[in-house]
Amino acid sequence: MSAASIRLPLWAQTVASLAGAPAAGPLLLGVDYYPDQTPEALWEEDARMMADFGFTNVRIAEFAWALMEPAEGKFDFAWLRRSVDILHKHNIAVILGTPSAAPPPWLTAKYPDIVEVNEKGERLHPGGRRFTCPTNQAYRRLSLIIASEMARTFTETQGVIGWQIDNEFTLGSSQRCYCNYCQAGFQTWLRSRYGTLDNLNQSWGTVFWSQTYTDFSQIPVPLPSGGDPNPGLALDYDRYQSYANVSFQQEQLDMLRKTCPRHFVTTNNVGLVDTINMRDLYEKLDFTAFDNYPGFFDMLMAQQGRMGSSAFVSSSIALGHDLARSVKGGKPFMIMEEQSGKAGQKTFSPQPEKGQARLWTYQAIAHGAMGVNYFRWDTATFGAEEYWHGILNHDRSKSPAFDEIKQGVRELKALGREVLYSNYVADAALVFDYDCSWALAIQPGHFRLAYLDQIVSWYGAISASRSGIDVIGPEIDLSAYKIVFAPVAYVMSEKQAARIRSFVQGGGMFVTNFRLGVKTETSQIVRTPLPGLLRDVMGVTVEDYIPVYSAKNGMKFSPALAGPDSECVLWTDILQPAGAEVLASYTMGAHAGQPAITMNSFGKGKAVYIGGDLNEASLARVLRTLSGMAGVKPPLEVPAGVEVTVRKAGNKQWIFVLNHGASSQSVNLPAAFVDLLTGEKLTGKIDIGAYGVRVLQA
Ligand code: GLA
Ligand code: ZN
Repeated sequence: MSAASIRLPLWAQTVASLAGAPAAGPLLLGVDYYPDQTPEALWEEDARMMADFGFTNVRIAEFAWALMEPAEGKFDFAWLRRSVDILHKHNIAVILGTPSAAPPPWLTAKYPDIVEVNEKGERLHPGGRRFTCPTNQAYRRLSLIIASEMARTFTETQGVIGWQIDNEFTLGSSQRCYCNYCQAGFQTWLRSRYGTLDNLNQSWGTVFWSQTYTDFSQIPVPLPSGGDPNPGLALDYDRYQSYANVSFQQEQLDMLRKTCPRHFVTTNNVGLVDTINMRDLYEKLDFTAFDNYPGFFDMLMAQQGRMGSSAFVSSSIALGHDLARSVKGGKPFMIMEEQSGKAGQKTFSPQPEKGQARLWTYQAIAHGAMGVNYFRWDTATFGAEEYWHGILNHDRSKSPAFDEIKQGVRELKALGREVLYSNYVADAALVFDYDCSWALAIQPGHFRLAYLDQIVSWYGAISASRSGIDVIGPEIDLSAYKIVFAPVAYVMSEKQAARIRSFVQGGGMFVTNFRLGVKTETSQIVRTPLPGLLRDVMGVTVEDYIPVYSAKNGMKFSPALAGPDSECVLWTDILQPAGAEVLASYTMGAHAGQPAITMNSFGKGKAVYIGGDLNEASLARVLRTLSGMAGVKPPLEVPAGVEVTVRKAGNKQWIFVLNHGASSQSVNLPAAFVDLLTGEKLTGKIDIGAYGVRVLQA
């Protein structure tokens, strides 16, 4: 999709003309603001300082239900209108948040069963936030009422430009609800999915353990029982919970489309979670808006004692951005909350290093963002997030990142909408399939095998090829790519298999690994030899599939993938080629010498099966080598720790070079470029300072 071909919806035209700029879309370089938590005497000063900072907009009110509806049916928006008016006077546009993520105490006291039940069957308690059941009708009705009252009140208000529905769906302490309402909702959803009980019983294989249902009302939710649930039921429950949240959102969206046709509508979430299907969540919204907290994520990983490596964190963050863009087919997205200081609740991350907050801003833009809002303007002196530091400190002095964020905002305005709304260029795609993630979590096969971990490791390895990566769903046509990666493609539908087959036939390279095509969409195991539907394309049969514990295995590579032997970390699929060429073989135990990686020629393309779980270094080398074979060329050769992406509009092209390291790096330019941030003309060897950024144009 080209930026020029984007036909602007009414809201975008309005905002663009308000700002007196060429119509590409709104400029959303703003900040998350809490007038509800700030003495009114400071609102004017806040707005003045924000305008001086260069901010274009705020997002407000997403946690202010108790102030907007102090008692059921009694509304008070006067304070919010005063705040919007002050902001508007200073030319700060407003995104309003609907407040359903945190219902007030009067509501939970009167309607206690809106509170969600966790996976152990325990009801949560009000007192935090995000403790609600997505199915419960009373909660849905009351959420829609407050959102409708807000919409009616502010639809014509000068300065209001858009909406954020709710806040981070599913990201509470328990991501699924298992209450009676959800059980009934699940049963209704199953009825429309399967039509008949016969079909449902067959699809799940309920004859196993005598689970044949004779009435939809008998179907349980996967709460603790004497044994594990039916895998088909459990997978459908994940799908249902995602659907329930999306359809909850849809009620507010339908209302907003009617009441506020001039405004854009989005919601905020984060990249690397599989608690909700982001493609469904954003399908009918105007653009994706994600929250980004690299330092907080780093702290969280360390706290969990898992994957605390900086490589995992940085891959996850970059992947989150690529997902945000890909969720809506490449359309420019927004960061609704960008980390601006120390971040956390009970414990918090360190202050970002000098330069990092500006670097993270550019990273978002480099991956296809059109706007960034920072979390948050001031730092609260009360409440659970007192230690989530903003752009102002507790005493309202400037935070350490104040000046560099201000500089970034100024620079991005100078780069302008043409860059912010340009397209991202990708030759490679990584398949990220929620069904696979859910089905594998239900039966991982190895207690440490997790879909998201595999996706992140593969992303990290592929990004070494600097190819630009789209993170796509299984329903996407693949013909735009040179190479498509699909790790642990455990659930494979016939349609997806057909798309992969025609992609390879047409000349693409498809790269996958162990556990390919094991399951049907209803989570039954295929009745053919593995890899099931893709056996002909891959040109192999899986002779055996083996999790790795104390009996180790390793891999030796053929000259095509030459490099040191790899250990097989979690898994080995033992392969029997049927026409495929062998690129690596196992080194230990009963299967020593047997094929571990194969490449098949199929039609005009190639299909590669990586049977063993490679260590980090080998995975990076193998995937990078395959990218090279597929004809992927990096726009620039750069050292490790430096990221390069390309954005494009018509025949203009911008190369973003980002140094994520604490020391300066050098890069050799193959031609003459201008750095648009400094105006310097550059050739040959150039430096990129610590946490530095270059935006290059030929
Ligand atoms: C999230 C939420 C915000 C706030 C910040 C910091 O992403 O959307 O409400 O809680 O993180 O915790
Ligand atoms: Zn529920």
